[in-house]
Amino acid sequence: MTDLLAVDPRRPEAAVIARAADCLRRGGLVAFPTETVYGLGVNAFDEAAVRRLFEAKGRPAVDPLIVHIADAAHLPLVARTVPASVQALAQRFWPGPLTLVLPKTAAVPGAVTAGLDTVAVRVPAHPVAHALLAAADLPVAAPSANLFSRPSPTTAAHVLQDLAGRIDMVLDGGQTDVGIESTVLDLCGPVPTVLRPGAVTIAMLRELLPGVVAREASRDARDGAMPSPGLLTRHYAPRAPFTLYEGADHARVCARILAAARVALGQGQRVGVLAADEDVTALTAEPALHVVTLGSLYALDTVAARLYAALRELDAAGLDVILGHGFPAGGGMGLAVRDRLRRAASGHVVTVDTD
Ligand code: TXA
Ligand code: MG
Repeated sequence: MTDLLAVDPRRPEAAVIARAADCLRRGGLVAFPTETVYGLGVNAFDEAAVRRLFEAKGRPAVDPLIVHIADAAHLPLVARTVPASVQALAQRFWPGPLTLVLPKTAAVPGAVTAGLDTVAVRVPAHPVAHALLAAADLPVAAPSANLFSRPSPTTAAHVLQDLAGRIDMVLDGGQTDVGIESTVLDLCGPVPTVLRPGAVTIAMLRELLPGVVAREASRDARDGAMPSPGLLTRHYAPRAPFTLYEGADHARVCARILAAARVALGQGQRVGVLAADEDVTALTAEPALHVVTLGSLYALDTVAARLYAALRELDAAGLDVILGHGFPAGGGMGLAVRDRLRRAASGHVVTVDTD
């Protein structure tokens, strides 16, 4: 049985938080909203609970978890050494969607870190997450609260779709704000490296860490390096084959999608399109298409917030093929949106030339 508890996302009720914190302290599995996506939390120091969490998600043990703390002052519980840069980073970006990879303390079980000597840590900004961490008075290991190979959940309903009956409790605090998982910044190597792009952008990090670089997942695969094991395991991909169309000329990209869609429709296939608002008029030419829009090409925060719900909707529609419009990777959430779309496409990316 999974208990579903409604909670005020801005002023979480103390009684609800106390129940959830008690569940965590007893080794339970509690899903809760963060500002990025819903997390599935357990006491990070309780190895048996951590193992149950991997089992509930069907997650491979090689994929390490993020440990959530209520305040940067709790870092020494989980991080053995704290590089000088951390204070400034924490001051600027915590609480918020930035995860730091640091050397771990002996107290953090290897089950949390997939046997690595490092631990990923963040201080979430969502009032419910913060209240829960403070009440439990524990570091809480929490991956996204989805089944392995499904999109991260941005609502409590998504969590229940995947994990009803497999976890103890879900705190329903409504839809999450950012919609895409936190930026992961590795501070253990010679150069500070962004392992996963998110709402805290490289440009924002560069103000404090001029040498910060982005790690390309494709380069890791080529070199055989394993800086972030979880990022190399099979990621979410829709059930139907998904092809992403990228290009600077958005009308051309849309025309290309429409052409590919017509071929598939002609073969009797059910076709879904993950579209930008700007595509909608052109796509109405084919009423048989299942069109899901993410927002304007120039409203990337909205696109990020809707992305995972849209992928779930397309999955549920029973399609044979899905065609997606790539969004500009330039500023803000652009890089993070492109990263998640490319992962969903598992490398099936068509570049549409400008002429
Ligand atoms: O926004 C988020 O980060 C959400 C919310 C719930 O906080 N959590 C989340 O967790 O996305 P998860 O487990 O889905 O993704 C965590 C990723 C892993 O896949 C891995 O790539 C990276 O963080 N990671 C964790 N520990 C690491 C470590 N020691 N070294 C390198 N990367 C690590
Ligand atoms: Mg995840």
